[in-house]
Amino acid sequence: MWNTWLTRTLNIDLPIIGAPMGGRAGGELAGQVTAAGGLGMIGAARYATPEWIDEQLRVIRAAAGGDAPLAFGLQTWSLADSPELLDSVLAAQPKLVSLSFGDPAPFVQRVKDAGAVVISQINSVDDLREVEAAGVDAVVAQGGEAGGHTGRIATLPLLQEVLRATDLPVLAAGGIGSGAGLAAVLAAGAQGALVGTALLASPETIGPEYAIPALLKARSVDTVYTDVFDKARHQPWPTRWFGRALTNDFTERWHDGDGVDASSSTEEAVSAAYDGAMPELGVVYAGQAAGLVDEVRPAREVVASIAADAEARLRAVAEVLG
Ligand SMILES: Cc1cc2nc3c(=O)[nH]c(=O)nc-3n(C[C@H](O)[C@H](O)[C@H](O)COP(=O)(O)O)c2cc1C
Repeated sequence: MWNTWLTRTLNIDLPIIGAPMGGRAGGELAGQVTAAGGLGMIGAARYATPEWIDEQLRVIRAAAGGDAPLAFGLQTWSLADSPELLDSVLAAQPKLVSLSFGDPAPFVQRVKDAGAVVISQINSVDDLREVEAAGVDAVVAQGGEAGGHTGRIATLPLLQEVLRATDLPVLAAGGIGSGAGLAAVLAAGAQGALVGTALLASPETIGPEYAIPALLKARSVDTVYTDVFDKARHQPWPTRWFGRALTNDFTERWHDGDGVDASSSTEEAVSAAYDGAMPELGVVYAGQAAGLVDEVRPAREVVASIAADAEARLRAVAEVLG
C-alpha cells in the first residue's frame, strides 16, 4: 500500500529504514525492523571486524529468516584502512549499503557490482554534490538533531535544500521518532526515513546495560553535539563530524562547544578520565528524538506504530484540502 521509491526499489512494505548504528544496531535489531516490514541496517563501525559481521549474519537469519534481505552501514572515511570490512559486507550479498561520512567514490562501483543499492547520508549541499558525482543511488539528508555522528544543519532545512538541489531520490534522517515525523518528511517529498534513536529502547539493541535506562530518562534537551567521546576513545573521526550523545557527568566535565583541544596532553587527560563501564561517564549516542522515547518496546512494535500513525496522519492531511 505504501508506494515510494524506497518501497518499490527494495520491495519492502514500509518506507522505514532502521538506521545503521555502530555499537547498537546488530543483527537482532535489524532483523526485527525487517520483520516489521521496513529494512533494518546493521551498523558496521570502524572497529567492527569480519568475524563480528559473520556473527550478525547468523543472528539476523535467526531473527528474520534465512532469506532476509541484508543491509549494512559503513563509515566511509575509515574504509581505506579496513578494506576487509567492505569485503565481508559484500560477500553477504546485501540489498542495501550505506557509505556515509566521506567521499564514497572509491567504493560505489564495487558495491553496485555486488548488486546492492547504494545510499549516503549527507549533511550539506556540498556533500550532495560529492556523492552525486560518486554515483550513489539515493541520498539521506541527515540533520544535526540525529543521534550519533552527524552534521550541523537541522533535518527540515537540509531536507528542503537537498530536495530542491537534486533529482536523486532523497530520504530523511534525524529526529524522526513518531508517525508525525515520518508523515512530515514524506509530505515534504522524501521517499522514506531512517529511524535511529526511536529504536534505541528496544531490547534487541546491543550496547552497555545503562544505555536504555539513560535514554528513557533523557528528554530532548539532554543531548550534546560533541567530539569529546571520539577523543576519549581514540576514534580518529575527521573533525567536521561530531557526534550527538546524551549528556552525563563526562560531558559536563569535558565537553567544550568548540571541540576538545587537539593537543595530545588534553586528549590524554580526556581518555584517562573516560570509563565506558560507568553510566555517568560512558557514551550513549542518541538524538533529540530521545524526548519521544519513554518505554522499552520491541523494535517491531516501534516500526509498526510509526507506520500506522504516519498513514493516519497523511490521510488526515489530504482532508485539509477538502
Ligand atoms: C548510537 C548511534 C550510532 C550511529 N552509528 C552510525 C554509523 O555507524 N554509521 C552511520 O552511517 N550512521 C550512524 N548513526 C546515525 C544514524 O544512521 C542515523 O542517521 C540517525 O540515527 C538518525 O537520527 P535519529 O537518531 O534522530 O533517528 C548512528 C546513530 C546512533 C544513534
